[in-house]
Amino acid sequence: MITGASSGIGFELAREFARHGYDLALTADDGLLDDAVARLRPYGTHVHATRVDLATSEGVESFLADLRALGRPVGAAVLNAGIGRGGAFLETDLADLARVIDVNVFSTVHLTHQLLSDMVRRGDGRILVVASVAAEIPGPYHAVYNASKAFLKSFAEALHSEVKGSGVSVTALMPGATDTRFFVRAGLLDTRLGRAKKDDPALVARQGYRALMDRRTRKVAGSLRTRAQHSVTRLLPSEARAALHRRWAQPHGSRSHL
Ligand SMILES: NC(=O)c1ccc[n+]([C@@H]2O[C@H](COP(=O)([O-])OP(=O)(O)OC[C@H]3O[C@@H](n4cnc5c(N)ncnc54)[C@H](OP(=O)(O)O)[C@@H]3O)[C@@H](O)[C@H]2O)c1
Repeated sequence: MITGASSGIGFELAREFARHGYDLALTADDGLLDDAVARLRPYGTHVHATRVDLATSEGVESFLADLRALGRPVGAAVLNAGIGRGGAFLETDLADLARVIDVNVFSTVHLTHQLLSDMVRRGDGRILVVASVAAEIPGPYHAVYNASKAFLKSFAEALHSEVKGSGVSVTALMPGATDTRFFVRAGLLDTRLGRAKKDDPALVARQGYRALMDRRTRKVAGSLRTRAQHSVTRLLPSEARAALHRRWAQPHGSRSHL
């Protein structure tokens, strides 16, 4: 089961599972989902797709009901759907920020609550929570997004420990900047971050799949350069990490409030 499977990292993860012979239950909320399903068919596994808006509890419940109707246990769940919202916090609509929290955080907690309970009862299963390297970097000009990813990393690692010994594992995937629709959709193109060179989502997906199968607690994913950069960045004091992020995420020509 994979959320946000219509494009980017989620689609590449779906392709990775299909390549390894898994049947798939996918979800996303726009027309690209049909296209994704068509691109996965040649792998020969069964692909079931549900279009829902995970920003709403009704959307999450409807996806869970659809999964139950399939009548099969979920062996691996990838909680990947996520959105960003770049720009100054005070200049961003509260509704847009709430949507980031609803999709990234609340839908993940909601889905995990149900899926983990089924897996623990069966004594088998794997969950991959797609966080980000941003989880470890306070994010000026992307503050709510980075905080949502810090939540997800902490959440996944806490559950990994909580269910240890049950036959179920929870892995936090932490990709670096990856070449997907994410930056356009988050309104980040007018930033250094938006224009920087990015990693291939297929590489991130391969590493994520392996980390999930190996039942790792966490995996920083991407090119060697990305992983090296992150291991250096995380040694810096939090203020220095925030200052770095600010340079990368501040929109060109924007006025500083500090
Ligand atoms: N790209 C990066 O640099 C990067 C780095 C670290 C972590 N990540 C994380 O990786 C995950 C995947 O992002 P991506 O980079 O692959 O971007 P993407 O190509 O924009 O994919 C996002 C996926 O989430 C789905 N989604 C968004 N809002 C949804 C909603 N309300 N209901 C249901 N599905 C929804 C999208 O489906 P629709 O198109 O149908 O809305 C799409 O399938 C996100 O959690 C992101 O935070 C990305």
